[in-house]
Amino acid sequence: MPDMNGRVVLVTGAASGIGRATAACLAEAGAGVAMVDRDGPRLEETAAAIGTTGVGQPLAVVADVGDEASIAAAVASVLSRFGLIDGVATCAGIFDPEDLADIEKVELATFDRVIGVNLRGTFLTLRAALPHLGSGSSVVTVASTAGLRGHGFGPAYTSSKGGVISLTRLAAVQYGPRGVRVNCVCPGATAGEGMGAAFADPSTAESVSADLPLRRVGQAGEIGATMMSLLSAETSYVTGQVIAVDGGATVR
Ligand SMILES: NC(=O)c1ccc[n+]([C@@H]2O[C@H](COP(=O)([O-])OP(=O)(O)OC[C@H]3O[C@@H](n4cnc5c(N)ncnc54)[C@H](O)[C@@H]3O)[C@@H](O)[C@H]2O)c1
Repeated sequence: MPDMNGRVVLVTGAASGIGRATAACLAEAGAGVAMVDRDGPRLEETAAAIGTTGVGQPLAVVADVGDEASIAAAVASVLSRFGLIDGVATCAGIFDPEDLADIEKVELATFDRVIGVNLRGTFLTLRAALPHLGSGSSVVTVASTAGLRGHGFGPAYTSSKGGVISLTRLAAVQYGPRGVRVNCVCPGATAGEGMGAAFADPSTAESVSADLPLRRVGQAGEIGATMMSLLSAETSYVTGQVIAVDGGATVR
């Protein structure tokens, strides 16, 4: 496990699934963790479950990543508590079942809602946090294998994740000269409690697994461990990369 002592990482979408697992890994490795989510009660419960580490209790900040003022205020709260931010993990995201249709059948409101969290929310989080990141800092965005393939997860979700991948590469180029690394993780089917609930269902997991080289779905902790590695100094020469954590799905 990388040593994260002394690092302060802001994790969005931290109340559930991949964000929660990332926050838990980071806290265990000694990082100061600022957990951001729009679901206040669940966020408090998750922060309490992580408990006090060497650097104290995680900070729980209720914020909507798609709202400019809300995420800016969240970043200000993190700076006020910890005095710095040197890691950002953008895990907040949504999937809307109404998006699971051919392009011509998807309502504009559905498209805007999904883009508003997944792409606009990632942009707003990066825009608020990047000015505070110094040399040695690391950002990890979360896209999806849907951003790499046209495998049918809906036009809004697919294009939101493609946008996150492109934004990540651009951020790596723009902020590399300041010593800030920016990488993107693309999870495949990952069991969890929110968006990953379907893959936690044994019969769905079994049918999805049949097509995967590793023959099983992923666990949120496996994505969290990859996120933490990219946030740590162990990967100090890795930037602008898009890393699928998908049991080999995208090599087919
Ligand atoms: N689970 C999977 O199979 C899978 C696969 C590929 C990509 N992903 C991506 O991983 C990320 C996390 O997915 P997950 O499975 O952990 O989902 P999840 O539903 O368990 O967690 C998402 C969290 O984001 C929060 N959130 C949603 N909108 C928000 C907003 N506007 N502001 C702040 N918080 C908000 C939710 O409250 C929730 O706590 C998402 O970006 C998702 O697209 C997941």
